[in-house]
Amino acid sequence: MKPLIIALALILATPLPAYAHPRPPRDLRQLAQQTGIKIGSAVDIAALRAESDYRKVLNREFSHVTAENAMKWESVEPQRGTFTWADADTLVDNARRNHQQVRGHTLVWHNQLPAWLTTGVADGTIGNAELRSILRDHITTQVRRYKGKIRAWDVVNEVVEEDGTMRQSIWLTHLGPGYIADAFRWARRADPHAKLFINDYNLEWNAPKIETTLALIKDLQAQGVPIDGAGFQGHLGIQYDYPGDWANVMRRFAGLGLEVAVTELDVRMELPVTPEKLATQAQYYSRALTDCLSVKACHELTVWGYTDRHSWVPGWFEGQGSACLLDESLAPKPAYQSLLAVKSPR
Ligand code: G3I
Repeated sequence: MKPLIIALALILATPLPAYAHPRPPRDLRQLAQQTGIKIGSAVDIAALRAESDYRKVLNREFSHVTAENAMKWESVEPQRGTFTWADADTLVDNARRNHQQVRGHTLVWHNQLPAWLTTGVADGTIGNAELRSILRDHITTQVRRYKGKIRAWDVVNEVVEEDGTMRQSIWLTHLGPGYIADAFRWARRADPHAKLFINDYNLEWNAPKIETTLALIKDLQAQGVPIDGAGFQGHLGIQYDYPGDWANVMRRFAGLGLEVAVTELDVRMELPVTPEKLATQAQYYSRALTDCLSVKACHELTVWGYTDRHSWVPGWFEGQGSACLLDESLAPKPAYQSLLAVKSPR
């Protein structure tokens, strides 16, 4: 009896290795606590307001949030000089009440610009000098409004094309490539503590885009431009191979002294859904988390919507869907369980 008790006492006294957590996490918030990675979701503000089950799950599971649309230019300034902050404020207020950090998305993009701006540029009523001051005012006004409330801003979004050339947006064609440095400088001035990110899709695997983005960041750093992070959107699909080199790509960006983040993860599939497809999807989600965990500079993994009830995918890819962690009725899918099961090396 005695040796048994001694053996038991010894087992109990042996400290667990740092990565072995006593219990598997109960939900994503606890997973975030245990791994030290912020786990976030994009938020549909209409759903946040109108659907109590959506709100409840969002606030239970996520410790980081991004407005899916509410902070984009067309949302916050639909008419020139008329600012509509209500939706963005709702997100930021809800985040504060629920101990969630916020990613601001996005200050400079070629999409979802208000019509007054694109029309004015197209018909020449807004000249280049005026456009530059409009951009400066937009960044300054928005970043100042949420000063101290945004952990990280996607300052520039999708500025590199798939072939590695710079994106032909109204910003590049009318202001020249210097608009990127300007945007970061204006953002830093407006909130010195927010982390300033460049964000893009297919940056997980597309070599020309990766090389151009790395070169762009080095060039910005050489000019003393304040840039703190690189965001990998991570819009994946199970019909394509998982980007197996992603962790190495993250390490290359981290090597420039940047924080890296997975900012818009989702994994779509051709419908109909089958158990096999859900199992593959689960592997993609867990590999993305594993990749982030394997890179010291990766501090955030955000999904682009957490429920298939509100996902951008079916509206954009015909015949595809089921891209999120939870289904339309907010029931967890295998992908959700696969995240909870990821073993953290941290
Ligand atoms: O606001 C109008 C509403 O007034 C109107 O009734 C409705 C009718 O269709 O459209 C609404 O606008 C839609 C908007 O989302 C808000 O719901 C647009 O049609 C729709 O095109 C827009 O799509 C968004 C898309 O960005 C636009 O580029 C998606 O919800 C949003 O998930 C998606 O997010 C982007 C990231 O910002 C950047 N990375 C890629 C990602 C996926 O495309």
